[in-house]
Amino acid sequence: MPMPKVFATRVLPREAQELLAAETDLEVWPDHTKPSREVLLERAGQCDALLTTIEDAGDSELLEAGRGRLKVVANFAVGYNNIDVASATRLGVAVSNTPQVLEKTTADLAFALIMATARRVPEGDRDVRAGRWMNWHPLSYVGRDIHGATLAIIGLGQIGLEVAKRALGFDMQVCYHSRTRKPNLEQRYGLDWRPNLALALRAADYVSIHTPLSPETHHLIGRRELEVMKPAAILVNTSRGPVVDNMALYEAVRDGVIWGAGLDVTEPEPLPPDHPLLTLPTVVVTPHIGSASTQTRTAMAVLAARNILACLRGEPMPSCVNLEALRRG
Ligand code: DGY
Repeated sequence: MPMPKVFATRVLPREAQELLAAETDLEVWPDHTKPSREVLLERAGQCDALLTTIEDAGDSELLEAGRGRLKVVANFAVGYNNIDVASATRLGVAVSNTPQVLEKTTADLAFALIMATARRVPEGDRDVRAGRWMNWHPLSYVGRDIHGATLAIIGLGQIGLEVAKRALGFDMQVCYHSRTRKPNLEQRYGLDWRPNLALALRAADYVSIHTPLSPETHHLIGRRELEVMKPAAILVNTSRGPVVDNMALYEAVRDGVIWGAGLDVTEPEPLPPDHPLLTLPTVVVTPHIGSASTQTRTAMAVLAARNILACLRGEPMPSCVNLEALRRG
């Protein structure tokens, strides 16, 4: 029997490639950038499994191209807004993501952005390197305190909770707004529930966004929401760029409606170097590196590989997001 064919749209950590190569006919796209649409459509029709990243559009056209052969799309991310799960389910294609392995690493980065923005770390580093730092001055590079401040978590999933835990270690007060109230977590960690977004935003010195991207959360933070925040507030986004309206954010920071922002995700990605947000010294932008530690990226890749192998063997997948597809497939 020929081995099942798998197409990975990027080079993966070695452990994951070895796992896949042991049981499948694995093709790995060798370039740093994603395969073209034509290549992806062609492979969808020729393969049993695709291992995709957030940059690969798993829309209905792609899934239709795999009709008859494609069994699983394993997304190398916890978020799967790039995959049309409804179409996948209709076509009996399983979709998987990578939960439980990246939450702490992503929370570390969210906290790094809180600190880097509040204490103007990148700005200071840029000035030192460029020879612009001439002398110590009482009014130079003054930022915002983190200890004693209030952090609002928007979306108290696993990553939001990990950020809250870090904040408690920094003597912050933590409130949250989430689709579902979590009384156990409130009790265990002393978190304050805010029944609506505006109340959470109004209370906070720092706001950290942890909602998945969906039609409901597209531009969840726009001009109106920014206007209820404190003038000294900092917004941090490590979820998906389109959850925040970037132009509204730019205007809000420029006009002093809020103090600054730390963004690991933007709309678009990458943000063009001449984007107005990048002219603001109190805006810090990183290149979507929330999960980017060696350990975590390896764990994500291995989990994606295990999802593929389990699906191809007809075994329970570790993290399938559309179990109904398996019943149809
Ligand atoms: C995810 O897992 O959704 C990240 O954004 C990719 O690192």
